[in-house]
Amino acid sequence: MAQVKIMAEVKSQEQLTEDVFSMWLKAPGIAEKAVPGQFISVYTKDKSKLLPRPISICQVEKDQGCLRIVYRVVGGGTEEFSKYKAGEEVSIMGPLGNGFPLKQKKAFLIGGGIGIPPMLELARNLDCEKTMVLGYRDVLFLNEEFAPYGQVYVATEDGSAGTKGNVLDAVRENGLEADIIYACGPTPMLRAIKAYAEEKGIECYISLEEKMACGIGACLACVCKSKEVDHHTHVHNKRICKDGPVFAAQEVEL
Ligand code: FES
Repeated sequence: MAQVKIMAEVKSQEQLTEDVFSMWLKAPGIAEKAVPGQFISVYTKDKSKLLPRPISICQVEKDQGCLRIVYRVVGGGTEEFSKYKAGEEVSIMGPLGNGFPLKQKKAFLIGGGIGIPPMLELARNLDCEKTMVLGYRDVLFLNEEFAPYGQVYVATEDGSAGTKGNVLDAVRENGLEADIIYACGPTPMLRAIKAYAEEKGIECYISLEEKMACGIGACLACVCKSKEVDHHTHVHNKRICKDGPVFAAQEVEL
């Protein structure tokens, strides 16, 4: 799928928690083509930070040519993004990556931390019975926006909301079951979900969050270990930006 680089207009910016922000962008040529699980590269205006930041797409309004990103401020680049106001322009490239396969099976949508946002667009597009399991450190965000699409269960590390523990603790505590798992979040969470899916014999797709640079498969900054040997490089590698970020869980070593 061809990506384009454009100047996108900021439509709105909202602070959801102390360090999580939601930004709507007018992104014609990208929003119309985007599928759940894809991401965009966002370029800083500060030229000393040349590498764009990969940020997953949280929501798309195709008819308006708009897309939404929900991101955590983790450094200078994302801090700069969080200061943008409506009407400003920002350079972005996308849509990037492959996206989730949309299957009609009873599904778990599992998101951990800043892996939660891409699950919202997936929930909006999946035409099946869905159960959302969202894992947080402490403060919740986006959870209420999932409610129209199915049952939402929450886990927090400090037990301040929902199950005390992680997303799989919430699955077990509530006796939840599904025939397919879609997940995005930190690697330890994905590793545990992959093992859970293997143990239960459930089809499972995971979206990897990794450091990326070019975002288009050229620099190899984002490789992860794969089970099969890559046809081109003959090594056990896959490029998360190009071959992913979504993989069948059994395809990748975590
Ligand atoms: Fe350059 Fe993936 S970020 S190859």
